[in-house]
Amino acid sequence: MRLGIPLEHADHERRIAAVPASIKVYTGWGWDVRVETGAGHAAGFSDEALVEAGATIVADTATAHDADLVLRVGPPTIEEIGLIPESAVLAGFLDPFVDTALVEALAARNVTALAVEAIPRTTLAQAMDALSSQANVAGYAAVMLAASESPKFPSMLVTAAGTIPPARSLVLGVGVAGLQAIATLKRLGTIVYAYDIRPETKEQVESLGAKFVEAPTQEMDEGGYAKEVDAETAAKQQETLAKYVAESDLVVTTAQIPGRPAPLLITADMVAGMHDGAVVVDMAASSGGNVAGSLPGETVDVGGVSIYGPIDLPSRVATDASRMYARNLQELVGRWRTEDGFTVDLEDEVAGPATITHAGQIVNPRTRSAMGLEEEAS
Ligand code: NAI
Repeated sequence: MRLGIPLEHADHERRIAAVPASIKVYTGWGWDVRVETGAGHAAGFSDEALVEAGATIVADTATAHDADLVLRVGPPTIEEIGLIPESAVLAGFLDPFVDTALVEALAARNVTALAVEAIPRTTLAQAMDALSSQANVAGYAAVMLAASESPKFPSMLVTAAGTIPPARSLVLGVGVAGLQAIATLKRLGTIVYAYDIRPETKEQVESLGAKFVEAPTQEMDEGGYAKEVDAETAAKQQETLAKYVAESDLVVTTAQIPGRPAPLLITADMVAGMHDGAVVVDMAASSGGNVAGSLPGETVDVGGVSIYGPIDLPSRVATDASRMYARNLQELVGRWRTEDGFTVDLEDEVAGPATITHAGQIVNPRTRSAMGLEEEAS
């Protein structure tokens, strides 16, 4: 069983899909792990450290993709798909409900593609849930960015040169990333306010020692995700949030609705009401943005307020993001491990739903629906 770990060539990508701990597990299973030279460098794992764990270093990306199982962080390019042998298995973040050209290319190449985005959000799948592990890292990194760019101390300081009041912070969207953002802002010593449309988040916010902003809430969809809000609810949200936004030194927004553009929570008027030096990190910038004026991958100065739309948050903590992601993948592909190697089992409760293409077909119902191939299974 040959396992290939290519170097990620995408801009800003510093993570690697296997780390010494997971390589030791794979080699313990008798698998032959081949890593492209330098693939772990940006995440703090030298070629030597990977060899010590049992990997073989290969010189080029073609050899790293020439494997029975290829583990990646981000999606391969169309050229890289051509380097994967037919009938091989690929696992990684593949954007399977949006990037239909990639899905078609994977099916045409007869690759069995496992997309971590399609792993069910169930208790059974928690150890494989890469969306959660990387959102957790991203929530932390967003706070670090906000705090390092803020001209204020986060915590209260009593010094001979005077008493500095603590910074006020606000987290909008309390999913996995938002909860980590709240916990990190608390540890830094800020006074934390938070809000989410889902009512059950109030208790979670308070259990972290933060204050819940009493703007409107509404029940979730059957999948446990937030639904889009109507215009009247959105207006009420903005009315309540405006005061909290205006008083904040640090704001982190994380609100997302699966399959829809991110909701606009902070309007241009609300940004205009913020004070000079305030910092906003919009984690939803690349899916439409929670903040008026935010741009993916850019910093925008609006009248003295800095609005960040980072697209590389997990890569900013590349060592630990890689450790967590590598563990997720090890657990995922481990589900298809057999006595003598590996077998594709579409009936598996976790790896089955995560399979997007197999045997030349697009097999994931949600991907098929997104591509207009059939109605989504209810
Ligand atoms: P996400 O990244 O899809 O969204 C982030 C947050 O934005 C969510 O909490 C959502 O309620 C909120 N949001 C959406 N529209 C909003 C609006 N208009 N105003 C304010 N907030 C808004 O969320 P994530 O982190 O992927 O989690 C989504 C759900 O999945 C949560 O219910 C979470 O508890 C659940 N989950 C369950 C897991 C499991 O059972 N193993 C694992 C991970 C998440």
